[in-house]
This record gives sequence, C-alpha cells and structure tokens, in this order.
Amino acid sequence: MILVQDQLKDQSEVRIDIEDRGYQFGDGVYEVVRIYNGQYFGMEEHLIRLERSAREIQMTLPYSIELLKERLEKLAKANDIRDGHVYLQITRGVAERTHQFPLQQAPFLVAYARKSPRPLSKMKDGITAITTEDIRWLRCDIKSLNLLGNVLGKQKAMDTKCDESIFIRNDIVTEGSSTNVYIVKNGEIWTHPANNFILNGITRQVVLDIAKETGITVHEETFTKNELMDADEVIISSTTMEVTPVISIDGTQVSNGEPGKVARTLQEKFNERIAQLQRVKN
Ligand code: PDD
Repeated sequence: MILVQDQLKDQSEVRIDIEDRGYQFGDGVYEVVRIYNGQYFGMEEHLIRLERSAREIQMTLPYSIELLKERLEKLAKANDIRDGHVYLQITRGVAERTHQFPLQQAPFLVAYARKSPRPLSKMKDGITAITTEDIRWLRCDIKSLNLLGNVLGKQKAMDTKCDESIFIRNDIVTEGSSTNVYIVKNGEIWTHPANNFILNGITRQVVLDIAKETGITVHEETFTKNELMDADEVIISSTTMEVTPVISIDGTQVSNGEPGKVARTLQEKFNERIAQLQRVKN
C-alpha cells in the first residue's frame, strides 16, 4: 500500500500524470524518515522541516502535520515495517508545462514505506569518501526534489569505489552528497553551520544534542579541506547512514584508518536514543 494525498491505496491503482511538476521540474520537496522496530524516529522534526521546505518554495502543505502523522503511522502498519523508512514527497501538482507557478496550485503528495536494514557493518567498520566540488544551488537548506548535484556527487564516489562524496565549496567543506559531515580535532567537533549551504539534518540535530549532553564541545563553524584531511576523526550522519565514521578520504587514511573514539561515543548514545523511543512508546 502507498499513501496518495490522504488515502492509502494499492500501488497498481495509482497513476502519475506526465504533467506533474515534480516529474517535469523537480518542483517539490521531500523527506525520508527512519522506522525502528515499527516506530518512526524524529517524525515531528521531519514534518516540521517538510513544512519549512514547502514554505521556502512558496507551497503550502495540503494537509496538517497531525493528519500526515496519523496517515504515515497507518502506512507503516499496512506494510508491516519493523526496520525501514518512509519516503514522502509533495510536488506543486499537475498543470500545463510553464516554468512559472500555475494559477491554481494543487500540491500532490505520495509516500511509500520500505523495509531497510540498519547499516550496521558500515557503522562498525567505517566508510570511504572522496572530495568533490559542491556544484549545487545556493538553497541547500531546502529539501528539494532537485538532486542532480547530489546524484552526480554520489555517482562520482561510486565510480571510484567509495561510499560518499564530501562537497567542497571555495575550499570549505559543506556536507556529503546525502549526509552531514563532522570533523574531530583534539576531542572537539566541527560541523558546517546550518545555513543555506547545507541541509540541517535531523540526525545532525540529534548528534549535536548528544554531543552537548555528553560534554563534547561542538563548533558550528566552517572548516577547510586541509582541516578535513588533517582531522583526528571524520564522521557522517543521515537518516539512512545514522552516525558512521569515515576511514579514508581521496585514498588517504583518516588518522590511523580506524573509527575513532568520538564516533563510537556518538553511536552508543544514538543507540540509546533509539531504545528510548521504544520505551516512551510502549
Ligand atoms: N538525505 N545532507 C543532505 C544533502 C541529505 O540529502 C541528507 C539526507 C542529509 C541528512 O539529513 P537527515 O539527517 O535529516 O537525514 C544531509 C536523505 C536521507 C536522502 O535523500 O535519502
């Protein structure tokens, strides 16, 4: 079953119009939300960000956050998802193809849930990355359907048998192609400030909260490519990758090429947050 507008439907019943503006222009916004043990993680925060992304492109969500939450709960249950995620997108709807907004906007919502395991071995062993130029637009804070810069970045990583591309804009490390990036130096964390150059990840917000709670100093300040290459630890985070250490960049080991202590602490506390979710819900 998938969610179309506010109704659960069988996927075979659903047709996407060739003049949907999401299909033609990437004119829409989206979210990916994790499901652990049948329960959503950070749903409220994801929906608030969705609302903000929509507002920033002058679109209004067609339904309230309360209604969306209720329907998404039904979607996860209908598909019997224990560990997985939901993908939700809202486009500006169907209209004759002109670049400007149609006079009548009818936002179109689709969401589907999938089973997907946690990336446990990558979290344990770490991943490899390359650096590449950040060629994206200047509103990376909007979780827009337009992902060509991200897609090309990820593909470049795959072509060099790496897991992720770390974007560099004017010598500054912004974020990964689908992740936020952190460096650790002398036990303290640096990560790009949440402005128009990055997506303010929901996982990023949890990581910063955990760091604060654990007494790890965080600098939401920019850092350079040299500082990245010279870091004691490099870590990425996202809904799907959780908190994962980076053990090599552009073929050079990060420190001794092993996941570091700060990464391990954050992972441990992140696991506690997931466990806490179960306790609160039960
Ligand atoms: N990607 N930065 C970018 C460019 C992203 O695409 C993502 C998420 C993040 C991390 O955000 P969060 O912690 O809220 O997942 C940062 C999702 C998972 C995706 O497009 O699949």
